Amino acid sequence: MSTAPLLPSSLQNLAQGKTRFTSDLSLPQGCLHALPATSPHAHARFSQIDSAAALAVPGVRAILTAADILRRNDISNLAHDEPLLAEQEVHCVGEPYALVVADSIEAAWQGSHLVTADWTPLPACLDMASALAAGALLQPPRTFALGDVDTAWGCCAIVVSGTVEIGSAEHLYMETQCALALPRDDGGLLLHSATQSPSGVHKAVATITGLPMHAIEVVAGRLGGGFGGKEEQATLWACLAALAAQRLQQPVRLWPDRSDDMRITGKRHPYQAHFKLGLDANGRFVAYEAQLWQNAGWCTDLSPAILERSLFHATNAYAIPHVRVTAHSCRTHLPSNTAFRGFGAPQAIFVMESAIRAAAHQLRCPPETLQARNLLRDGDVFPYGMCAQQPKAEASWQMLARENGIATCRQRITAWNATQPRYRKGMAVVPVCFGIAFTATLLNQAQALVHVYTDGSVAVTTGAIEMGQGVHGKVQRIVAETLGLPVAQVQVMPTSTLRVANVSPTAASTGADLNGGAARQACLDILQRLRPVAAALLNAPAAEVMFLEGHAHAQQARVPWNELIAQAYRQRIHLSALAHYASANLHFDPQRNQGQPFAYHVYGTALMEATVDVLLGTGRIDAVRVVHDIGHSLDASTDRGQIEGAIVQGMGWMTSEEIRHDSQGRLLTDNLASYKIPDLDSSPPIEIEFLPHNGGPAGILHSKAVGEPPLVYGLAAYFALQDAITSWQPQAAAVFRAPLTSEAIFGLLHGNDPP
Ligand code: MTE
Ligand code: HPA
Ligand code: MOS
Repeated sequence: MSTAPLLPSSLQNLAQGKTRFTSDLSLPQGCLHALPATSPHAHARFSQIDSAAALAVPGVRAILTAADILRRNDISNLAHDEPLLAEQEVHCVGEPYALVVADSIEAAWQGSHLVTADWTPLPACLDMASALAAGALLQPPRTFALGDVDTAWGCCAIVVSGTVEIGSAEHLYMETQCALALPRDDGGLLLHSATQSPSGVHKAVATITGLPMHAIEVVAGRLGGGFGGKEEQATLWACLAALAAQRLQQPVRLWPDRSDDMRITGKRHPYQAHFKLGLDANGRFVAYEAQLWQNAGWCTDLSPAILERSLFHATNAYAIPHVRVTAHSCRTHLPSNTAFRGFGAPQAIFVMESAIRAAAHQLRCPPETLQARNLLRDGDVFPYGMCAQQPKAEASWQMLARENGIATCRQRITAWNATQPRYRKGMAVVPVCFGIAFTATLLNQAQALVHVYTDGSVAVTTGAIEMGQGVHGKVQRIVAETLGLPVAQVQVMPTSTLRVANVSPTAASTGADLNGGAARQACLDILQRLRPVAAALLNAPAAEVMFLEGHAHAQQARVPWNELIAQAYRQRIHLSALAHYASANLHFDPQRNQGQPFAYHVYGTALMEATVDVLLGTGRIDAVRVVHDIGHSLDASTDRGQIEGAIVQGMGWMTSEEIRHDSQGRLLTDNLASYKIPDLDSSPPIEIEFLPHNGGPAGILHSKAVGEPPLVYGLAAYFALQDAITSWQPQAAAVFRAPLTSEAIFGLLHGNDPP
């Protein structure tokens, strides 16, 4: 007798370490290894590359430079400012300027450190202040506005202002970047790429190699995490592999180690900000003004889109009648910063939440009082012109606050702090309102290919990349539910650009909505063809046929799926479908900054409690409670996992992760000893409740996207710790400088550094 496995086989393999990532693929015979030689300077000119020492390393086969690129030295997406290999000028430490190809990874590594050039160092801007002084902006500043801020200040009972600094963060996906390129007999290329954006890789490889896209196949299997770090920046590695494979006509793999990956790739954008918030005598927000600056790094990458998402989320889950937010993107000589879970929204929300703390401190009231009074209500308008439709801001807040949950927590903490000199407690509530859709409207489309085989089993390919977020399980579930089959009868395949074309990246939390939408449509198309066959077998009208529990049903009669499929095949019915999905009713005018950029918003509220040891300057988060707006969950354990993971990732960004460079722009925190991510010991118990409601029609099968929104809950870690510190050192209430590491906490408590 066999017992049913606890986990589906894909998860079982993952838990047992058997899952094969791109770096685990068996290497083809004659496979070469390559690594880039990277700039030691933050900014420099060069005319000659010296490869002699590297070529002398046994096993080194070739050193490739920009001159080896057959078509165009350009891997950029939004602007033409990112070459694959630098020509004449480098713009950050870690920018690739040559590629060492060798028989072994060791020889490639050794060679990559021996290549050099005739560098002439140039002045470098590493921080936003020097970029601004040099006028180095990626694009003109952008402003989102609502109402009349200038007049509104006159109607305010109080106005507070302040400054904010928010640090960067490393994605730290478990699997470092990886690509394997194989030349094909017909002159084409097959690429295995650990990417969130197979079509981004596809396009860039075509640009580099000069091959038409139909001569290139990109396959993206399961990723060991992406978190946005493989949305744009997996392309570099794939193009380097493609270049070498094309040049040497042998398979080539690139697979940087952890510290090379940390040095070369971009991270979350650090932000600086000024805010000004005006309130009336009842604590209602009247006017909000903010200036945001992001440190974009040296090239455009996705920075303008990230800046735009900051603007979309500048007022978080609050209704404010008069708003003006201006955002600037500073070009600096650092590796180009890139997509990272939340895509600029968490930074803007941190600024808004800081402004609320500043106001609460001045009014001597708990921030929760002001927050609760200003949550979005039905019909409130966002600064970009979209209307909040049945927002769940108040509902999630009230569910968290039921039985006085929030107020009692505040009383308990105040009472504790009145008697405890050493261990101080604090709390913070952070609501979230997160827009779901790519803000670039054109990306909100997807394709799915569904095959039903003659044994009744089903294979699905979409553009959805599985990176731990469970999107393949969701697509599997959507297909199974639509066809009325057990999930085990449906297999979700790795993405290949030959099976689905022109796919959007798996990003913006839209993986299940877009790809699930396309997969569902493909299934409906197949069912439409099966319906008459079933009707004939069941002797019933086609309109009455239903597909449920592995059968076609009508009027009490039923026929098993396998028999139906066999019959349809005999009748030469097409058993495959390729379907397309595009989210309805999206539009946005980037000139007027008005439109309907999102399919819907996701809401929720988190409460965190923290303790600070005043003597040692250490802090920890004691408890987290969350009410989250998931709609009709497609898979509750996956969704809980997404929420827990996002919270811990957000907490790490806020409390322990600190990216540091030296004065020459070299990354100091390039390993896990110097860069501290949360571990099991620092992760608090997290209690998650789902707001009970039907998610509405915009998300797939009434679910709501979950990937990024809960990262915002992690901000509560900063504000809870700050609250605890403030009970001992009141001046800390005006300090909004993340991360709050132990060092920073100690400085706030005991240093003479501000406060
Ligand atoms: N969860 C895991 N385990 N690993 C990841 O790399 N990426 C996050 C989120 N959750 C990520 C994750 C990011 S940045 C996004 S945009 C979404 O998953 C993408 O997947 P989805 O659209 O299917 O939610
Ligand atoms: N979110 C995430 N990734 C993106 C977006 C977005 O809005 N636009 C382009 N890439
Ligand atoms: Mo997620 S930052 O949109 O990959």
